[in-house]
Amino acid sequence: EQIEKGGYDHFMLKEIYEQPNVIKDTYRGRLLANEGIIKMAGIEDNLEKFLNADRILIVACGTSWHAGLVAEYIIEEFTRIPVEVEYASEFRYRNPIINKNDIVIAISQSGETADTLAAIKLAKENGAFVFGVCNVVGSSISRETHAGAYTHAGPEIGVASTKAFTTQITVLTMIALRLAKAKGTLSNSDFHRHLQELEIIPEKVQEALEMTNEVAKTIAAKFKDSQNCLYLGRGYNFPVALEGALKLKEISYIHAEGYPAAEMKHGPIALIDEQMPVVVIAPKQGHYDKVVSNIQEIKSRSGKIIAIVTKGDTQVRDLADYVIEIPDTSDALSPLLTTIPLQLLSYHIAVMRDCNVDQPRNLAKSVTVE
Ligand code: G6P
Repeated sequence: EQIEKGGYDHFMLKEIYEQPNVIKDTYRGRLLANEGIIKMAGIEDNLEKFLNADRILIVACGTSWHAGLVAEYIIEEFTRIPVEVEYASEFRYRNPIINKNDIVIAISQSGETADTLAAIKLAKENGAFVFGVCNVVGSSISRETHAGAYTHAGPEIGVASTKAFTTQITVLTMIALRLAKAKGTLSNSDFHRHLQELEIIPEKVQEALEMTNEVAKTIAAKFKDSQNCLYLGRGYNFPVALEGALKLKEISYIHAEGYPAAEMKHGPIALIDEQMPVVVIAPKQGHYDKVVSNIQEIKSRSGKIIAIVTKGDTQVRDLADYVIEIPDTSDALSPLLTTIPLQLLSYHIAVMRDCNVDQPRNLAKSVTVE
């Protein structure tokens, strides 16, 4: 097992550090930024279906559901195709409206999650075209779906999902870009800009790992005994806040909640006092000014602010108790970078609390029963 961990203390840490490589593996042969080409067999073969789709429904569970939420923002922004994201377990039992012109995208690392599999069967019975985004080759979901695109994350052993999440976002971003090109919903220059940015994202993920690990460790030491933690983000980074909170819950057993930053005033703000760490995802693009005012609201209630900011940021640094800098990228691709320090933060907290990082209590890597 020590050999399989490749010198890392835990599989989770190894998998966090594999992300630059596996993101590259995932787009290799599919993304040729200089030529302006993005192609995946499963999409090319079914392009007409995607172009005629009235709606895309995404079904998934857990971390894969969070990747689906990021994809909702990206696909709608790039292609203007309406997207809905559902928990597979809710979708399968609520008599959902599924039309022949709907495309269902099922996202699953293992390809074996029982609820996702059942949602796929239901969608097929109702005549929808079902596309899978799976990591495990030949898995049940990859066989049940009409077509699909694999992530190339390699085996993920740690129960808490890390590299599966970022490679799922990579595939879904490529799908959005391919459809946008076919539909003409992005300007030529925006299309090329996104392709270039995606191509260099592995280097930026590497940079993010190097920039954030030590500071995440220092912050972990300060907050390891917290009872609660709040994660806030907006836009593309709202799902990242959910994912950050899930990672902390899963492996450190600290109660954590993710929230859209602006919703804080409708409830969670009541929880804020000097005991409450609040992780705010505040990269410089997107809704930066709005997030800054959310940070001010937390500060005036004495919450402890841990902010994820773009390198060189000074405004948030003046307000926050701790800042973690990440490299600059486009708004749409920022989840691939903002998620890195959040993975590391929960990892270090869990290690400091002596938790079983790779096999947290009560959790399974793949939930094959209801
Ligand atoms: C379990 C795992 C999670 C995973 C979820 C969905 O809860 O512990 O890490 O996100 O299942 O799994 P899937 O294989 O369908 O992505």
